Amino acid sequence: MGLLVVSSKKRGFEEGEYALVYLDKKRRWLVKVAKGGKLHTHAGIVDLASLVGRPYGCSLESTLGNRLWALKPTMEDFLMKVERPTQVVYPKDLGLIVVKTGISSGSIVVEAGTGSGVLTGLMANLVRPDGHIYSFEARPEFLKVAKKNLEKMGLLQYVTLAEKDAKEGLDVKDADVGIVDVGDPWSLVKPFSESLAPSGVLAAVSPTMNQVEKLVAELLAQGFVDVESMELILRGLEARPNMTRPSMMMVGHTAYLTFARKTILEKE
Ligand SMILES: C[S@@+](CC[C@H](N)C(=O)[O-])C[C@H]1O[C@@H](n2cnc3c(N)ncnc32)[C@H](O)[C@@H]1O
Repeated sequence: MGLLVVSSKKRGFEEGEYALVYLDKKRRWLVKVAKGGKLHTHAGIVDLASLVGRPYGCSLESTLGNRLWALKPTMEDFLMKVERPTQVVYPKDLGLIVVKTGISSGSIVVEAGTGSGVLTGLMANLVRPDGHIYSFEARPEFLKVAKKNLEKMGLLQYVTLAEKDAKEGLDVKDADVGIVDVGDPWSLVKPFSESLAPSGVLAAVSPTMNQVEKLVAELLAQGFVDVESMELILRGLEARPNMTRPSMMMVGHTAYLTFARKTILEKE
């Protein structure tokens, strides 16, 4: 082959963008690259202004002589570093939700339970530039945080946030995907059924099994098909030469996921 492809994408930091300053797996900071910006860490102070014009992945030396790395943040870095006043959906579950619902560029998504806006942010990043997320949240204090988080991710323009109890109706018709992450998801099956386009996919995030039982019974009663519930268990590996083994510590439980598709009965 011998074909050398060099991407023309921007590969360096600009004033005003975010950088992930990385010391080690546990110590990493999502910071804005700005004139006069300083990051104070126990490993010393890092001059953030010096990053302007430097390539992604470059090293930084702190005032105490420690080496840190300046990385271009991934979506996961943004999602896990935003303010989180509520329980949020974790990366392992986010990935499956995307595959099972088929959310992609152009999708119209209706969501109940914006919370901190973590799942909202991931979806907004996927549906752009022509898709949109309509997200409903009952509590104004959480909506305020979600708005701030989405602004930080640069994705607010792809999201309409509404302060409203989703039980009162979802105000969106013909959505491709419905997302429900509230304590009583069964009570929202009807509004979602009215909001989804035929064959649209509903995904629910539920921390407990009794929520799943009640939700599935209601989904079946309302004519949804392909109803399935699952839990993803993720175990990390400690990879070292001749000593690789599973991590001793792991997250035991995040949430159960339920997926279902809306059907219609056509008149004969
Ligand atoms: C677990 S949080 C959602 C977290 C979100 N998925 C994330 O990743 O950041 C659940 C949210 O649902 C909201 N909520 C509960 N019942 C609701 C309802 N009927 N209508 C709108 N929001 C509701 C709560 O106020 C809470 O903020």
